[in-house]
Amino acid sequence: MSALPAASPLPSPFETHKEIPAMALLEARNLRKTYRLSRTNFVEALRGVDITIEAGEMVAIMGPSGSGKSTLMHLLGLLHSPDPAGRAEAQPALLMDGRDMATLGDGARTRIRAREMGFVFQSFNLVPTLTALENVALAAEYAGMSGAGARAAAATALDLVGLGDRATHRPAELSGGQQQRAAIAATAAGPGDGAREGDRRHPSRHRHA
Ligand SMILES: Nc1ncnc2c1ncn2[C@@H]1O[C@H](COP(=O)(O)OP(=O)(O)OP(=O)(O)O)[C@@H](O)[C@H]1O
Ligand SMILES: [Mg+2]
Repeated sequence: MSALPAASPLPSPFETHKEIPAMALLEARNLRKTYRLSRTNFVEALRGVDITIEAGEMVAIMGPSGSGKSTLMHLLGLLHSPDPAGRAEAQPALLMDGRDMATLGDGARTRIRAREMGFVFQSFNLVPTLTALENVALAAEYAGMSGAGARAAAATALDLVGLGDRATHRPAELSGGQQQRAAIAATAAGPGDGAREGDRRHPSRHRHA
């Protein structure tokens, strides 16, 4: 077996923002989530999770089915709120770029989700009646772009994921992997998505949930 080269000849994209002062992209403490089914029946899906993610870091959350991965992603993606502190538990904290997400209202959280995050769900959440291009353009419009700009950004994003020749296909006319790529394009097409946000501040930042 041949040895791997000691160093890659190409600079890693993750090395480009070393000069930016250290501040965790995301810092969460004491995240708890209990699903209440009735007064006596409940599931403690998360019992106090701490996690720190640095800008440019790639993180995989792994665990058995039912262990709380999706629940955690919903909290980190600002889709749901953690349980508030109880008598015995510490206050939850969720900081993004140092901003406290716990104290934001619904509207502000929705804006941050639309403009700063990219989500690729297990089910791709493509609108079945829209073409691939229209689906991606819709995501770009949700993220703040206007009609023509959104369509142009959608076409570029579809090209980037290798789906330029499938732009007029509806989701049912795409393979599973192509649907997933269309969903990825939808996360990359907005004006303030992780990738472009990165152009301004952290060149390689992507946020996917
Ligand atoms: N809405 C809900 N109401 C009640 N219990 C729930 C609800 N959502 C999830 N749970 C329970 O919370 C636990 C964590 O669920 P979660 O979906 O976070 O698991 P997961 O790690 O993503 O699993 P998988 O790998 O199967 O997707 C599970 O035991 C699940 O049954
Ligand atoms: Mg899950």
